[in-house]
Amino acid sequence: MEPPRILLVGRIGQVGWELRRTLAPMARLTAVDFPQIDLTKPDSIRQAVRAARPRIIINAAAYTAVDKAESEPDLALQINGRAPGVLAEEAKKLGALLVHYSTDYIFDGAKREGYVETDKPNPAGAYGRSKLAGDEAVQAAGGAHLVFRLCWVYGARGQNFMLTMMRLARERETLRVVNDQTGCPTWSRMIAETTALALKLTLAARDWNAFTGVYHLAASGATSWHGFAQAIVELMPPEGRKCSVVEAISTAEYPLPAKRPAYSVLDCGKLERTFGLRLPHWKDSLEQVFEK
Ligand SMILES: NC(=O)c1ccc[n+]([C@@H]2O[C@H](COP(=O)([O-])OP(=O)(O)OC[C@H]3O[C@@H](n4cnc5c(N)ncnc54)[C@H](OP(=O)(O)O)[C@@H]3O)[C@@H](O)[C@H]2O)c1
Repeated sequence: MEPPRILLVGRIGQVGWELRRTLAPMARLTAVDFPQIDLTKPDSIRQAVRAARPRIIINAAAYTAVDKAESEPDLALQINGRAPGVLAEEAKKLGALLVHYSTDYIFDGAKREGYVETDKPNPAGAYGRSKLAGDEAVQAAGGAHLVFRLCWVYGARGQNFMLTMMRLARERETLRVVNDQTGCPTWSRMIAETTALALKLTLAARDWNAFTGVYHLAASGATSWHGFAQAIVELMPPEGRKCSVVEAISTAEYPLPAKRPAYSVLDCGKLERTFGLRLPHWKDSLEQVFEK
């Protein structure tokens, strides 16, 4: 059996890089990024898809600058809202499966128990609004798709909270981190591996539409940014680490341009039941990242 042809959009992002690594043995992979594909230009998207003729398209690219999106809402909407719609239309024309990633930031954070897929989105900022437009465009195109909504992504590469805290902990004695936002820190590698397992099952099914839909994909358990930072600092080797105190502060004490949900824990029961998976606890994944 020939491995499927996969077009991966976003080859050097946190999730995209891990997908390249994880999918390498199970696919004929074409991985593209800007300038091979420009998500602000529908023609560039169509051209990239038609050149690759994939059986699966995975979109790991996005405009992810949550605060900057407040001053560039149109650009965020083009990349996060319109481009996924073009990819979904092209996928449908080819009879291909589209895998797309979305975010917990489409929710307003008013709940106090895990968000399920049928909860009503109500994004608080421009980034969340642009990502929600992407979810809707993928669904409206009417082709086979898996949309995975992620939460608080981190990993050993790219730009993320864990790497920022590690850098600051080497420079400062005290870190001040917000403790009134709760979410699920989720390792980029776990996302890639879960995607691969879900893809395997979907491809094996005669009818992809049986799996088509939106799924929440995040580590189990929950913590605040403060709890996450404290765990990161504790796991860092003492040599080179200056920080000894991680102080808890409120969101009001650390103002940022974009409003974030106070609570964005994702209930991943649908994904676990559908694909027969068990998502690891955030602390277990974090410890693994630090193992040498
Ligand atoms: N990071 C999080 O905490 C988080 C949380 C929930 C959901 N998500 C979602 O998860 C997915 C993956 O996120 P990530 O953290 O892996 O993102 P990331 O590290 O910021 O990577 C984004 C990728 O998109 C590419 N890209 C941006 N603009 C482009 C354009 N106009 N044309 C082509 N490529 C473009 C970037 O390329 P360049 O580097 O060349 O710009 C980069 O490779 C995204 O859908 C994101 O919305 C992320």
